[in-house]
Amino acid sequence: DVLSRTKGYGKLILMGEHFVVYKVPALVGAVSCYTDCDAVFTDKPGLEVIDERPAVPNYKVTKKDEADVAIGLVLKHFGIDTTKERGLKLTFGGDLCCASGIGASAAQVVAMARALSIALPKAMTEDEINAAGYEGEKGYHGTPSGIDNTAATFGGVLKFQRTDGDPIFTKKKVSEPIRIVYASTGITSSTTKVVGDVKAKKEADPAWFDDLLKKYVALVEKGEKAIDAGDITELGKLLNENHTLCQELTVSCKELDDLVTAAREAGAVGAKMSGTGRGGLMLALTPTAEIQDKVAAALEKLAPQVWKTTFA
Ligand code: PMV
Repeated sequence: DVLSRTKGYGKLILMGEHFVVYKVPALVGAVSCYTDCDAVFTDKPGLEVIDERPAVPNYKVTKKDEADVAIGLVLKHFGIDTTKERGLKLTFGGDLCCASGIGASAAQVVAMARALSIALPKAMTEDEINAAGYEGEKGYHGTPSGIDNTAATFGGVLKFQRTDGDPIFTKKKVSEPIRIVYASTGITSSTTKVVGDVKAKKEADPAWFDDLLKKYVALVEKGEKAIDAGDITELGKLLNENHTLCQELTVSCKELDDLVTAAREAGAVGAKMSGTGRGGLMLALTPTAEIQDKVAAALEKLAPQVWKTTFA
C-alpha cells in the first residue's frame, strides 16, 4: 500500500557519536520502527499537518515550531508553494516516538519526501529522497552531520563518514536482524550544546582528544569487522569500550551509566549510550529473544520508556 512506501526509519548510533563530527567513520543502525506520511493535494490553498505519531511528554510544546520549519524546508526543496493554487494535507503516523533521541525528525522529513514523490507524482532516486531529508533536518538541527537522514532513508546498518564534501556511506551486509533493546533516560539534552562542549575540551587539550580519537578509530575498525563476521558478542564488547570512551569525553551521565550497567547485568552482550548523551537514549545488544526480554524487564525498572526492536 501507499503508506508502506513512505517509511523513514529511526536510528541508533552503534559506534561513533561525537567522534563522527571529526570526520572519522561511525556505525549506525536503522531500527524497525518508522514514521510514515500520507500527502494529499487539496483544491484550496493552505497547509494542514496532522501528526498522529507517538511522542514523549511535552513534544508538541518544545518541537512543534521546528517541525513547521523542517516541513517548510522540504516543500521549498521541491518548489511546492501551498499558498497559491493547491493546498496540501500531510498526515504523519507510524510507531516511532518523537523527541526521544531516535532520529524521529529525520524519519519524518524522509517519510514526507517519499510521500511527496508519490503525490506529485515524481519518480525520485533514494539519493534524492536523502537529499530532501537532509534539507528538512536543517530545520531541526541547523548543521546536522547527515547520519540521521541517511539511516532514515536507506535503513539497515551503515558505515557513515562525514567529509569536507558529501558524506560517504556504505550499507553493511547483515545476515540476520540484530536484536536490541533501547531505553530513554527521560532527559532531553541539546545536541548543539554538548557538541560545543566537546569542541571546547578538544581545543583546550588537543593531545587528550587526539588520544581518544585514535582509540576510537581502532575500535570502529574492529566494530566493522565484527559486523562483517556476524560476531554479535565481539560487537557487544566493542560497544562497551565505546561507552567508556564516551564517559572519558564526558558526554555520558549517571542515568545513562546506570541503564548501561543494568542491561549488562541482565545479560546484554554489550550496552552503551547512543547519540548526543547527557540524557537521551542507551542501547543494548541482546542476541536472543530471551535475553531481549530479560534486559527490557531490567531496564523498565529504571527507565521511563523501553523499546524492543531490531536493526534490520
Ligand atoms: O542525539 P542524536 O541521536 O541526534 O545524535 C547526535 C550525534 C552527534 O555525533 C553528537 C552529532 C552529529 O551531528 O553527528
